[in-house]
Amino acid sequence: MIRDYSARLIVQEVSPRDGLQIEPTWVPTQDKIALVNGLSQAGFSRIEAGSFVSPRAIPALRDADEVFRGILRQPGVVYVALVPNLKGAQRAVAAGAGELNLVMSASETHNRANMRMRKAQSLEGFAAIVEALAGAPVLLNATVATAFGCPFEGRIDEDEVLRIVEAYLEMGIAGVTLADTTGMANPRQVAGLVERVLRRLPASALTLHFHNTRGLGLCNVLAAYEQGARRFDAALGGLGGCPFAPGASGNICTEDLVNLCDEVGIPTGIDLPHLLNLSRALPGLLGHEVPGQLAKAGRNRDLHPVPPDLPG
Ligand code: COA
Ligand code: ZN
Repeated sequence: MIRDYSARLIVQEVSPRDGLQIEPTWVPTQDKIALVNGLSQAGFSRIEAGSFVSPRAIPALRDADEVFRGILRQPGVVYVALVPNLKGAQRAVAAGAGELNLVMSASETHNRANMRMRKAQSLEGFAAIVEALAGAPVLLNATVATAFGCPFEGRIDEDEVLRIVEAYLEMGIAGVTLADTTGMANPRQVAGLVERVLRRLPASALTLHFHNTRGLGLCNVLAAYEQGARRFDAALGGLGGCPFAPGASGNICTEDLVNLCDEVGIPTGIDLPHLLNLSRALPGLLGHEVPGQLAKAGRNRDLHPVPPDLPG
């Protein structure tokens, strides 16, 4: 069967948030702003530019207010902020976030480790955010973290993920992200869950968030895309990971994903050479190599010189 790859795939860049949250080296505020500004020039329509969480929980992103205030906003780009509670939502709105991404785990244990509260408390907090922001010019999305597996609890019951999606929608939250926090998803599982969730909301409202922890990240993207999903999170260089999930590692790598799309003909609207330039600056910024592969290998069309001594 020849697959239809003509529908656009929307990449939401999350390196300024998921990417930097786990970095041990402090990235100065101006460098964070420069990273977001560079991404704004690459053709993304959505960039998760930071999180408004407890500075004790995630010291690396404690300057999110200054970052959101300092970036050059490209028309047509939605600048998203991750928030855990009402205080974070208020900070994010004050700093000019265009969309809030509320996060709760499907796993009770991971939610307690990550958000220091039970799922029921997270949901109460989300309801308070929705109420407090009624009429405000800000979009709302909510993430189901550990939707495909939890490093503490293992396999997550799909029905529970569906119940959480339903709870978000009932609250009036328009967008939903299914996140594979520690790369436990497989393509078959992804196709099954995406199929069920897309019966409940349109593809334009669903985002998939994969980590490449077990090497299945891009396989999972294709499985979800073939099932009708159209929006995907990815991080420049394959940075990323949740500091409160043991064994966490990087998001799927944005330039590797865009290269896949370019090669199979899925339109993304993203400028890959520009992205490669940004990615190749990451080791200098962070002081270590990054997992992404395309920045090391180059694109298929970036050819090498022919050796001069070939036999005739
Ligand atoms: N932004 C800034 N400060 C915040 C905050 C926010 N969104 N939410 C709480 N705080 C502050 C409180 O004001 C309080 O400060 P104080 O001690 O100076 O008075 C302190 O943090 C503790 O507040 P509390 O409500 O008791 O929080 P907690 O310690 O139970 O932690 C969270 C709960 C949700 C704030 C914290 O676990 C968190 O930020 N988690 C996010 C983790 C994350 O980002 N993971 C990766 C992305 S999924
Ligand atoms: Zn993540």
